[in-house]
This record gives sequence, structure tokens and C-alpha cells, in this order.
Amino acid sequence: MGRHKLKKFAEVEEMKNVFSKPEHLKGKWREEVFKNEGDVVVEMGCAHGDYARALGEKFSDKNFIGIDRKGDRLWSASKKSSGEDNVVFCWCEGEHLEEYFADGEINEVWITFPDPHSKPCKANRRLISPRFLKVYKKVVKKDGVVHLKTDNKELFDYAVEVLEESNVDQLEIIRDVHGQDEIPELLQIKTYYEKKFIAEGKPIFYLKFSI
Ligand SMILES: C[S@@+](CC[C@H](N)C(=O)[O-])C[C@H]1O[C@@H](n2cnc3c(N)ncnc32)[C@H](O)[C@@H]1O
Repeated sequence: MGRHKLKKFAEVEEMKNVFSKPEHLKGKWREEVFKNEGDVVVEMGCAHGDYARALGEKFSDKNFIGIDRKGDRLWSASKKSSGEDNVVFCWCEGEHLEEYFADGEINEVWITFPDPHSKPCKANRRLISPRFLKVYKKVVKKDGVVHLKTDNKELFDYAVEVLEESNVDQLEIIRDVHGQDEIPELLQIKTYYEKKFIAEGKPIFYLKFSI
């Protein structure tokens, strides 16, 4: 590993708004981190944190946690932050959320442009696979909402199939978010990857379900 990356890893451990494998915060995010009783919203695979920050700006009454497995990306997410109290980052593997969040502690999840892991043998790495649904079911409060945004039609179709097979209520499906005459306000906020894909002329797929 490069020296540059190692330096960022050391720095990220000291950053006030990045928590690395925070087992001590399980069940205590509102009390110890946000100091309020507002909703807790998690973004899976937040990378440089642009989307979590944009959501935090728009919904100042909610608390946002961007999750990513890559410390150097969270280093950059933290550097880009400008002292917002309601947006923090968590450096961990998404499949281990149960170690860092109590049952029902999360109100809402955003899965934004997840890696498609196209090979069938890698399907259980998809952030929308049954393996991850099981984790969300535990840490998201009953009837909490999960949103998925992707440019990848195969991944989207896979998600719809997984939800049907798991008897999960699908609340909304949009197959070309930005091609609509009227784009719902919430979906007007774009992630870093979303902007790239729109520039390439790709349609953006959106799915919302309750868990
Ligand atoms: C394609 S990027 C999308 C970044 C951002 N959401 C966007 O839309 O611009 C996917 C991100 O998910 C992260 N990721 C993938 N699998 C993960 C996992 N199991 N746990 C945590 N982060 C993960 C990757 O490190 C990467 O930063």
C-alpha cells in the first residue's frame, strides 16, 4: 500500500466526524454523536460523501451517516465537510452494520450507485442482495424505508426480483428518474456517480421499499 494512503488512514482515525468500526456507538448514535432525537439516515457506499452532505443540508432536522469500506474516500469526505453537525461518516464493511447499530436504530437507508458485481458468483456482495436485506431488516426500524438508485438495469432488475421473492413491499419504482416531466424534489439531489452517468446519457433507476 502507498505511503500516501497509509497517511490518510492514520489521519482518518483522528477525524472528529469519521468513526472507524464504532462498536461503542451501537444504540447510542443519537445520544452521543448527534445529541438529538432526530431520524437516523444511512447512506451505504457514500465514497466522498457528497450525497450524504447534500441530504444533510436539505434536511437539517435529520441525522446522516455515510458508510464506506474505503478509508481514503472517507478522508476526503471529511475534508470536504464544513462543520455540519448532522452529517458524519462510518468506516466499516456494510455487511457488519449489526455490530455498530442496535435493532431498529436506523430510520432510512440510501443505497446509491452500488457496485453491480455482475458475476453471479459475486451476487452476495451486492448491497441489495438477500444477505444485505437481512441486515437492513434488523437495524432499520419496522416500516423504515430503503431507497436504491442505480444506472445498472441488470442490478435494478435483480433488486426487483429479490424484493418480490422476499415478500418486501415495493413503494415506488421509476425507470428513468431524470426523463420525467416532473422530478420529485427528493430525487433532484444527485450523487457524484449519478452526475457522471447522466452526462453519459444513461437513465437512472430508482426503487423505494419498506422493510
Ligand atoms: C460506485 S461507488 C458509489 C459512490 C457514491 N454512492 C456515488 O453514487 O457517487 C460504490 C462505493 O461503495 C463502497 N462499498 C462497496 N461495497 C461496500 C461494502 N460492503 N461496505 C461499505 N462500502 C462499500 C465502495 O467502497 C465505493 O466507495
